[in-house]
Amino acid sequence: MELKNKCVVIGVTGGIAAYKALDIVSNLKKKNMDVHVIMTKSATEFVTPLSFQSLSQNQVTIDMFEEPRAWEIQHISLAKKADIMLVAPATANIIGKVANGIADDMLSTTIMATKAPVVFAPAMNTNMYENPIVQGNIEKLKSYGYMFIEPASGRLACGDVGKGKLADTKYISDQIHSMLYDIKDLKGKKVLVTAGPTIAPIDPVRYITNRSTGKMGYAIAEEARDRGAEVILITGPTSIEKPFGVKIVEVKTNEEMMNSVLEYFEEVDIVVKSAAVADYKPKNYSDRKIKKSEEYINLEFEKDNDILKRLGEIKTNQILIGFAAESHDLIENARNKLQRKNLDYIVANDITKTGFASDNNKVAILCRNGKETHLEEMTKREVARELLNLIMNK
Ligand code: CTP
Repeated sequence: MELKNKCVVIGVTGGIAAYKALDIVSNLKKKNMDVHVIMTKSATEFVTPLSFQSLSQNQVTIDMFEEPRAWEIQHISLAKKADIMLVAPATANIIGKVANGIADDMLSTTIMATKAPVVFAPAMNTNMYENPIVQGNIEKLKSYGYMFIEPASGRLACGDVGKGKLADTKYISDQIHSMLYDIKDLKGKKVLVTAGPTIAPIDPVRYITNRSTGKMGYAIAEEARDRGAEVILITGPTSIEKPFGVKIVEVKTNEEMMNSVLEYFEEVDIVVKSAAVADYKPKNYSDRKIKKSEEYINLEFEKDNDILKRLGEIKTNQILIGFAAESHDLIENARNKLQRKNLDYIVANDITKTGFASDNNKVAILCRNGKETHLEEMTKREVARELLNLIMNK
């Protein structure tokens, strides 16, 4: 779904976390959204409006108490333009004002005037956050339908440790992105995605594995989640952030991945196997560390499970999608895999063209019925969207 024309109005209030809002603006711009920033007067003490203007590529609105006529008109236009409003960081002050109907500056009047959903991402000192007055205001706002992204716990700027850190900026941006998705064509569907590599241990300190960051699979899980699916993400070890709002099952080996996949297989509608599963494992695992006493060592490997092939054999109504990472004869090899593993679709990518850790991918999607869709190079999230569009016949 294209979010190009969606408008996000971000209110930045005066807290030390104001600089983190720059990251949120940047993330949302990367998702092609139209971002407008309103800063309170105290926010401008922490970050310059120019930084927000440069990142949002829109004029930043700052409180102008001196010129009430200017903001009285402007707040209505932004309030109408917004598809969603985000207040990040939200201080106790702005939460208190809105909860008690006070509209005395550009941001509070815009919040009051908008019909769009409003999301607060609070950030403040732990004691302030836990203060019953603040908590009461949050509860009151929630009862009116305002939404909150809870702060995280950790070491705060004031040196205290506790709850009150602005939630992770990627998490906030992804939440906004997800809320703006109005196509929910996967509602009621269960989607199982596998991602990342698996490892095959050699001894307690060594293993072999495949190159895979998990980015492609995570993007598919996020796309399916945003379109309303219930998502189960079975992931090998990765260093990227786990998506919110999906069931995460962490595995290490081929066998663990296979057992988890089989556990959920019967209950799901769509399976996307983007994991880079290790095909071989050492024939004999050494439970003692192998010492480097010899000049050469020989390791013997044996074939491990082909999880996808197994799914192809036992599938009933599930739509089964595999990946084919190839270095040569891309389409021919992928088509063979599609048939051999009894798949409905296969996503073929030429590993010599786009790097493994890249945010982009260039793929062809082959369908069981012979149809081939060759896509331009695009982000992995866009590939995920195209893939689900094809499956859902868009
Ligand atoms: N796959 C799997 N289990 C394996 C190997 C692969 O489930 N042991 C799945 C992958 O998740 C992917 C598809 O099968 O969806 C194709 O993986 P790939 O490594 O490209 O193919 P292989 O079947 O391993 O064939 P080859 O290594 O000969 O290219």
